[in-house]
Amino acid sequence: MFTAIYFDFIKFCDKIIVYFGGDYMIKMGNILDEKDSRLRSISNEVVFPLSKKDKKAIKDTIEYLTNSQIPEISEKEGLRPGMGLAAIQLGINKRFFVVVHEITREEDKKQKFNTYIIVNPKIISHSEEIIAADTGEGCLSVNREVDGYVKRFARVTIEAFDIDGKPITIRAREELAIAFQHEIDHLNGILFIDKITNNINGIRTI
Ligand code: NI
Repeated sequence: MFTAIYFDFIKFCDKIIVYFGGDYMIKMGNILDEKDSRLRSISNEVVFPLSKKDKKAIKDTIEYLTNSQIPEISEKEGLRPGMGLAAIQLGINKRFFVVVHEITREEDKKQKFNTYIIVNPKIISHSEEIIAADTGEGCLSVNREVDGYVKRFARVTIEAFDIDGKPITIRAREELAIAFQHEIDHLNGILFIDKITNNINGIRTI
């Protein structure tokens, strides 16, 4: 299931040059801050085909998220590291997001990432098990340290559409499952800071 999806992503992604030498389309200043009320709106379902503007936002987001997770680039360009960004964080009131998930293993010489472009997602099933990120969560729209944990399902299955409107089903677990739930919350006007708890008794942290 994953393989087919990746091929589509790769087809899309291989046209993207990850490092443009500092000419970034998305800078921290383009990302809405938590005080911006637009982040509290419920985003609208996407009607296909995606507009040119939306496709460009997706391309720019992939570029930002990838570069932000490459230390040499993020430090040089002052990019705050992030693995996910929802359209509304760029002021686009539509139900799509991008997650760039690092999958580098020790033996890899270069960092490796899986890129997910997720449109009109729905969580169709989830585990009973709840987990929390042991360092807490972060968000490119929340520019401060926030103590505490966020409880998330350990595993989720999502039905969504890819960038071309083709239905996709993705099963995600652990860190990737947390990222998807965080981004789907954005589509519903919810920020992780709304869900902060200090009580994680009996919950596995990852
Ligand atoms: Ni966020």
